Amino acid sequence: MRIPLNKSTLGQEEIDAAKAVLDSGYFTMGRLVLDFERAVADYLGVKNAVMVNSGSSANLLALFAAANPMLPADGALPPRLKAGSEVIVPALTWSTTIWPVIQAGAKPVFVDSDPETLQMTPAAVEAAITPNTAGIFIVHVLGGAVDMTAMEALAKKHNLWLLEDTCESFGVDWKGRKVGTFGQIGTYSFYFSHHITTIEGGMAVTDDDGLADLMRAMRAHGWIRQMETKDAQAAQHSSIDPRFLFITTGFNLRPTEINAAIGLEQLKRIEGFNDTRRKVAARLDHGLARLKQSGDLTLIRHHPDVHAAPFGYTVLCASREARDGLQRHLEAAEIETRPVIAGNLTRQPALDHFAYRISGELSGADRVMDCGIYWGTHPVMSDEEVDYIIQTVDEYFR
Ligand SMILES: Cc1ncc(COP(=O)(O)O)c(C=O)c1O
Repeated sequence: MRIPLNKSTLGQEEIDAAKAVLDSGYFTMGRLVLDFERAVADYLGVKNAVMVNSGSSANLLALFAAANPMLPADGALPPRLKAGSEVIVPALTWSTTIWPVIQAGAKPVFVDSDPETLQMTPAAVEAAITPNTAGIFIVHVLGGAVDMTAMEALAKKHNLWLLEDTCESFGVDWKGRKVGTFGQIGTYSFYFSHHITTIEGGMAVTDDDGLADLMRAMRAHGWIRQMETKDAQAAQHSSIDPRFLFITTGFNLRPTEINAAIGLEQLKRIEGFNDTRRKVAARLDHGLARLKQSGDLTLIRHHPDVHAAPFGYTVLCASREARDGLQRHLEAAEIETRPVIAGNLTRQPALDHFAYRISGELSGADRVMDCGIYWGTHPVMSDEEVDYIIQTVDEYFR
């Protein structure tokens, strides 16, 4: 039996929807992207959603929006990020949570995560706050969620940006509310292996209309074409042809109609997908309980207020040697594995070239990097496949 990290969840509906776009002759960002944005915003319970071509692009948009000099300084939003502003981030995350912080001119301040939940902790964030702190970039890791009650309170108390990288936790709730909707901007990834997929794709969401419109301009060259306020913008600059009127700097992060057509079909299936992820994880928890009891494995737990949707099943071994051995054993049995995201990012060589600060110890992130491993919990995994994983892990420790 071969157990890949992920299997395609694209069904006939998704394929038909993609074909219909190809048949229509209209491929670039248009009505379907708008429909998908509306559908995702309604699903999450947020006012605005701006679709882009990846989760990394959504992070780029969020950070550059928070640093954009066009933001109104009327106090409705925290002060904008400036050169050297500190943004608190977890060390245990993916690379493109951090790169946009650096690219936008801010300084990442790394804090630790709890190795048993994989999430950054409010205590570590609070200890990292200084007069230079401008924001907290939360990351909800691998289908879990950060304590958003505490994080919201901290951000409010210190008037900080609260941005949420939710690329790994689409559809996950904290106290009944979808994560990614607590801060000013939340970001999501719809890459192939994520909770729903548009093959490549992402979304930045916000309740702030001004931020949303700024992100619409920044997504596409800095022009006004997709802005809701485009007529007002055009009227203000009537000497320039509104078809090519640029009001800010920007990128080209646009998705295509094909991505949106697939996303609209996938979104109809999100609850079923996430239920299966939970069932797979529960079966693994049950099957590996003996190894938890013997101390061979630490299993991930979630705060009782999190309605999780496990994205990969992470275990921590007692030592690096045990982890390396387990990895070899699983790969030999054709069960695909991965490191637990980028580990402690401050140990990655890319960081040698940029300014950053570490607050406190990163022993939790180190433990996850050195002793952690994960395999898939995708929504088309059968009980038989789950039992094969349990049996293979068990076999290694016996
Ligand atoms: C936490 C986190 N942020 C950002 C990303 C980037 O998303 P994408 O692969 O869609 O660019 C990922 C990718 O998996 C991620 O895990």
